[in-house]
Amino acid sequence: MRLRLAGAVLLAAAAYYVYLPLPSGVCEPWKLMLLDALFRSFMKATDAAHALGICHRIHLLNRLVSWVEDIEPRSCPDVQVTDATLDGVPARVFRPKEGKRLKRGVLYFHGGGWALCSGRMRSYDLLGRKMAKDLDSVIMSVDYRLAPDAVFPDQYHDALAASRAFLSSEVLELYGIDPERLCLSGDSSGGNLAAAVAQQLGSDDSVPVRFKLQALIYPVLQALDFHTPSYQQNQAVPILYRPLMATFWLQYLGADASLAPVLLANNHTSLDQPAISASTRSKLDWTALLPAERRKHFRPFVKERGSSGVLGRVPQLMDVRAMPLLAEQEVLGRTPKAYVLTCEFDVLRDDGLMYVRRLRDAGVEVTSDHYEDGFHGCMVFSYLPMMSAVGQRSMNNYIRWLDQNL
Ligand SMILES: *[C@@H]1O[C@H](CO)[C@@H](O)[C@H](O)[C@H]1NC(C)=O
Repeated sequence: MRLRLAGAVLLAAAAYYVYLPLPSGVCEPWKLMLLDALFRSFMKATDAAHALGICHRIHLLNRLVSWVEDIEPRSCPDVQVTDATLDGVPARVFRPKEGKRLKRGVLYFHGGGWALCSGRMRSYDLLGRKMAKDLDSVIMSVDYRLAPDAVFPDQYHDALAASRAFLSSEVLELYGIDPERLCLSGDSSGGNLAAAVAQQLGSDDSVPVRFKLQALIYPVLQALDFHTPSYQQNQAVPILYRPLMATFWLQYLGADASLAPVLLANNHTSLDQPAISASTRSKLDWTALLPAERRKHFRPFVKERGSSGVLGRVPQLMDVRAMPLLAEQEVLGRTPKAYVLTCEFDVLRDDGLMYVRRLRDAGVEVTSDHYEDGFHGCMVFSYLPMMSAVGQRSMNNYIRWLDQNL
């Protein structure tokens, strides 16, 4: 009896720890809660270690993640998995074993706030294998350097260097890849890198081989407005909480973490900031760029007066290589045909949807694939026990789009 009571108390305590009120409509809320509880526990443990001075929070977090996740390059019957480098940047390569003809090629950038994860993680490893097998294509997953050891523009430079190397005849010939059928892709911060590289290479005539497609999975594309409708609507939806995204941004940009409240208050983009022109504001004016059904009842959050000097101290906030949504229309117009996956329950939803609109305005053909029950990260957390139906559905649709368009 006492044991049963203790069990019930423990269960209740666990449920209390895991339970989180989620908006109705999220796919399989208990799975998302479990994922969030795991993530929160990791964060708490690493915060404690950081506060005690044992090691940097991100280093420990990455070690914990790789303890759960990392795997050696193991080949399977259909796919050969090896580790390689692209102009010095490590990459994991997934190649179908069968067939002589030239393969299609996808260069992939993993997510994780420019600070976490790796193409070697189980989730990304499984994605790479599945893509290689289902698409009969060569997939290269790039391990760009991570914050806090590397900050912008290091990650961007690694992504660009790896992309140029991928497009070289040496690499394409070595792996038997068709130069006419190449795609750049990535999720979250990896989607940011893929979009930024697509812009840079689209306007660079010195590269003879071009990417045919860009496929962006819930990409992060701007840090000037932390009050888009999706930031407002989803600020308390796991696992990418609104303050966490501001922290990731500041860390990526090599800026002081104490600026997070300033960013979250949109104090860096108040109307008295001379550095932000009307033209810049128009590039992320969601009142014009988002369809009414996404704007809902939300109001713009633009202050008359804010915190002066932030953009002077952190000019990276205006750097288009970090903020692909700020690109000029002509630059966007020279980027490849696009696929943009967005999720309703994601603070980054509107980054993606505004990019869809801006790409279309620039004349780029875009498939906008929106998941009404999706949440940030769902496509990659797609293995047991976190496998969600929306994760599987989105992954299948992403792969199908690649198959039909690449
Ligand atoms: C934002 O700016 C206003 C006006 O200058 C100021 O009163 C407020 O303290 C600032 N908020 C933050 C979080 O810095």
